Amino acid sequence: MPKTALITGITGQDGAYLARLLLSKNYRVYGAFRRSSVLNLERLDYLGIRERVELVPLDLLDLSGIVRVLDRVKPDEVYNLAAQSFVAVSFEQPVVTGDITGLGAVRMLEGIRLVNPKIRFYQASSSEMFGKVQAVPQNEKTPFYPRSPYAAAKLYAHWMTVNYREAYGIFACSGILFNHESPLRGLEFVTRKITHAVARIKAGLERELRLGNLEARRDWGYAQEYVEAMWLMLQQDEPDDYVIATGETHSVREFAEAAFAAVNLDWREYVKTDPAFYRPAEVDLLVGDASRAKGKLGWCPKVTFQELVGIMVEADLERVGGK
Ligand code: NAP
Ligand code: GDD
Repeated sequence: MPKTALITGITGQDGAYLARLLLSKNYRVYGAFRRSSVLNLERLDYLGIRERVELVPLDLLDLSGIVRVLDRVKPDEVYNLAAQSFVAVSFEQPVVTGDITGLGAVRMLEGIRLVNPKIRFYQASSSEMFGKVQAVPQNEKTPFYPRSPYAAAKLYAHWMTVNYREAYGIFACSGILFNHESPLRGLEFVTRKITHAVARIKAGLERELRLGNLEARRDWGYAQEYVEAMWLMLQQDEPDDYVIATGETHSVREFAEAAFAAVNLDWREYVKTDPAFYRPAEVDLLVGDASRAKGKLGWCPKVTFQELVGIMVEADLERVGGK
């Protein structure tokens, strides 16, 4: 029997890649979206899978809707990817971020407990939870120190996932994923903001790029590879939590330098720093140790930092017609 999966956050970067992966494995895929005046299915279109995903309206703020969807769809696996996921906005909207990103995950867990506790659950946890890092590199045993309302909300969701596993025996896994990027990354995130600007500058459509803190360091991987880790977690005999990362760290400055260099431009001529993009509290350094995932899931990243930058620049050049 083919399995059935429900993905929340189907309109986002990871939702699209995960849907494609599960379809390739012959799953029946339900994609949950929140109702709005304009439904954005751009990413599913980009991957050519819009017609193959069964769309269901579901808002993480609405427990009764979640229960109804779980009851109707009868998934074997639920991937909770929906969130208010932009750290900068979480400082402006801390309450709604807590409601969606924190309590939203608990509504999903509670829905599963009420409808069918045998449903396997994946929670999209985040390296942002390590915040002001207490060890380098960070692994599953590293203490957390969240530095934003987003990170605090994710940490609540993370511990509730662990709690539902321990209290009710639900097969619930938390994937502590480090930053992962792709041509489908939202334009508000720094990597895509850079590659999009590089393509526009190269095409003569823009003249400068305004960024915030250039010294922040992130462990950037390739989103397509990271969704495979999500799926692998739910195929194990026992539920567990896993760090997913490349083990390499680079600064925003290095990313910008590499992206401009990919089109033979010198980043220093175009990048300006702007205090508007600084955060009230910053996460200075993230670098993950994914040894547990390698040992237990057989997962390890393949695309290098340079290749990732190249893939993203190339895709944006094509989009702006600059090639
Ligand atoms: P994304 O592109 O920002 O997608 C977020 C998704 O959540 C969108 O589909 C959005 O729908 C949906 N959403 C927001 N509020 C909702 C609500 N109230 N009810 C239902 N859906 C709602 O994020 P992503 O990069 O794919 O990341 C996927 C998940 O992994 C997120 O939970 C993120 O926090 C987490 N994560 C991401 C990374 C990373 O580097 N990408 C790393 C660690 C963890 P709309 O289209 O309607 O806005
Ligand atoms: N967005 C943005 N825009 N970030 C900038 C800019 C800018 O103009 N200039 C510098 N930065 C710095 C930020 O201050 C941060 O230190 C770093 O670039 C990365 O910012 P984002 O790309 O917005 O990602 P993030 O690390 O804050 O959060 C992403 O990764 C998390 C995993 O660690 C998101 O995808 C989260 O949802 C995810 O959990």
